[in-house]
Amino acid sequence: MSEGAGVQGPPLWRLLQHTAAAVQAVLAGKSLTAQLEAVPAALRPGTQALSFQAMRQLGRARALCTLLAPKAPPPAAHALLCSALALCWDEAQAPYPGHTLVNQAVEAARRQRSTQAQAGFINACLRRFLRERAALVARSEADPQARWNHPLWWVERLRREHPALAEAWLVAAQQPAPMTLRVNTARGSVAQYQARLQAQGMPAGQPVGAQGLQLAQAVPVHQLPGFEGGDVSVQDAAAQLAAPLLLQGLPADRPLRILDACAAPGGKTGHLLELRPEARVLALEIDAGRAERIHDNLRRLAVQAEVRAADASAPDTWWDGEPFDAILLDAPCTASGIVRRHPDVRWLRREGDSAQLARTQALLLDRLWPLLRPGGHLLYCTCSVFRAEGDAVVQAFLGRNTQAHLRPSPGHLIAQALGPVPAVGDNALGEHDSFYYALLHKGPPRV
Ligand SMILES: C[S@@+](CC[C@H](N)C(=O)[O-])C[C@H]1O[C@@H](n2cnc3c(N)ncnc32)[C@H](O)[C@@H]1O
Repeated sequence: MSEGAGVQGPPLWRLLQHTAAAVQAVLAGKSLTAQLEAVPAALRPGTQALSFQAMRQLGRARALCTLLAPKAPPPAAHALLCSALALCWDEAQAPYPGHTLVNQAVEAARRQRSTQAQAGFINACLRRFLRERAALVARSEADPQARWNHPLWWVERLRREHPALAEAWLVAAQQPAPMTLRVNTARGSVAQYQARLQAQGMPAGQPVGAQGLQLAQAVPVHQLPGFEGGDVSVQDAAAQLAAPLLLQGLPADRPLRILDACAAPGGKTGHLLELRPEARVLALEIDAGRAERIHDNLRRLAVQAEVRAADASAPDTWWDGEPFDAILLDAPCTASGIVRRHPDVRWLRREGDSAQLARTQALLLDRLWPLLRPGGHLLYCTCSVFRAEGDAVVQAFLGRNTQAHLRPSPGHLIAQALGPVPAVGDNALGEHDSFYYALLHKGPPRV
């Protein structure tokens, strides 16, 4: 038995062991990010690549596993079998030839106590899969979770809520997200930054939006010219809409007082300060550990904000009574719009999560709205694709707040949708995460 496909890298069977552990953890409700952090550094990049692919194909793999083993083996063996099937079922996308993956999965099973006893069973299942691939894949196709690699409730909800875009969204969700940069245009134009990339022998990227640059291939951030000095940041194209949207139409002749209510890791706080460096920004974050990351981001950009670890829904614990000109509420949500970057999210969420989060989102809106100065803006956003966390929250809020006026907003931005574009409200703009944006203006009471 070879030690694996990588001549210099770690043996494949070891990567498969860690990938299977990650799959088992996600199926038990734990986040993939936390799992990957625990993987030894030398094995992490390989494990991440394989486990991202396994997450994207887990619906298919579980369906195939049920066909091969109607009585599921114990969790560790089940996770290893699913991981191998996820990686090898589609020959066109498999990272290694099928027989290599199968040999190495069996080796992985043999070499750890939790799966040793099932090594023969795993071997038999996977070899049967290689022999009967076409028929088994065709049978699995009847299961929508296999077809779309998302839970059934998710597929059905998408079809109900975004009928024209659901399938394009599901296809897009299977692709890795591009690396998108936000050029700090206070320091130089997007075109100038493209020239800097080219001068370093890197492709110039594709401009997107006012400050964005999409790279054809991801690169380590320290290779980006001027990254350490804050000339450029990494931020999805849809997320780059937040700061300009919130600031548009607000007074330009005085320093604004801005609240970024749910701020960590500070991507949008930094953008607000790039656009209005003189603004007095209060950045709140309930998780003290995550709040530290805001400091790191702002330091790199050489901008300043007051950062506090606090609960935005309890202003009496942190508000000094001075109203805000602008409030950014990037609310906690299911993160269902960023499955390309976090492919485990689809398997971690439960059907009732949106409704529960919607109650938190409504509470945050209700508690923060009184802190907004008349004439001010509150931008509500989530990186969720579900209407319960977008339109529904905002429409209900408008119903109970006559001073809130909805300004033209992107609404639900659907990632990389390829289908026909419906009227304003749902936007298919292309290569970006799925976000929801509603800009609320505080004006005279509606009658
Ligand atoms: C979507 S993330 C924010 C991303 C951030 N705006 C950015 O662009 O980098 C939501 C954040 O809100 C925080 N959060 C959740 N509930 C909160 C609350 N009640 N008060 C303050 N922060 C909260 C979460 O810990 C999480 O870091």
